[in-house]
Amino acid sequence: MERLSDWYDHPEYYEAIFGTDTARELDFLVEVNRRYGTGGKLLLEPACGAGRLVAEAASRGYRVVGYDLSEKMLAHARERLSPALRRKVRLYASPMQEFFRPELEGKVDLAFNLVSTFRYLDSEQAALAHLEGTRRLLNPKGLYVLGFHLTDYDRKKPEHERWVERLGKDTVVCNTREGLPDRRLRRSTMRNRLRITGPGKDLLIETHWYFRTYDLTQTRRLFRRAGLEVLAVYDFDYQVDAPRKKGEMRLDSIFVLRAAK
Ligand SMILES: C[S@@+](CC[C@H](N)C(=O)[O-])C[C@H]1O[C@@H](n2cnc3c(N)ncnc32)[C@H](O)[C@@H]1O
Repeated sequence: MERLSDWYDHPEYYEAIFGTDTARELDFLVEVNRRYGTGGKLLLEPACGAGRLVAEAASRGYRVVGYDLSEKMLAHARERLSPALRRKVRLYASPMQEFFRPELEGKVDLAFNLVSTFRYLDSEQAALAHLEGTRRLLNPKGLYVLGFHLTDYDRKKPEHERWVERLGKDTVVCNTREGLPDRRLRRSTMRNRLRITGPGKDLLIETHWYFRTYDLTQTRRLFRRAGLEVLAVYDFDYQVDAPRKKGEMRLDSIFVLRAAK
């Protein structure tokens, strides 16, 4: 078995796992944009990775700006776009806490960041800088749709998720483990293992990192500080007709945010 590290250096395997829901996620975003936002055509994806959602949105006629820290993920995002789609897309290398483009200020109809990526921001200052910076780019009626897994600080066991997908003749098995949260340091240890097997191939890509932790109170306080109000909250099942009812609590949460009035 060959051992490698950092799944973002291997976008094709990352996307084999995360790419399966892309059309449904975009259907959800389009409908959220129509119901709560401007319904306009300029989208922004912070930490866009290998560009699955960027490409899907561009193919539906949207203009899309994406940025990411990983050059390898961005290279994959560029390669997947046909020349016609490339004209609708702008991709940049940037960290979430710093991204700014003057030509986008006040213009973005919908920004989105769906799969807990926001939790890579490892301090309150970094998270706040990202939220304030994104808010600055939004049209006054624009939205930031932010999805991430909230933390139950009382849980006693690590959390596991496992997916299996096919990529051509290969099988990709993905195991993600979130360790117990550290309430004081506001972080959990994370580990991902991608095991890829196929003809002549046996590969293990193991990645370790920390995710910042948020319970609902910490989340709402941060949004308030960033000048964002919550218009609706959804589960990760992308059912646009089923926003969460007041007082209902689930950890997987998609927040529909707008600049506070
Ligand atoms: C889970 S992937 C999500 C990619 C994409 N949004 C998607 O839904 O497929 C997380 C991405 O966040 C990027 N990333 C992590 N920390 C970042 C930071 N501080 N600023 C910008 N990008 C970051 C990684 O390079 C990776 O491409």
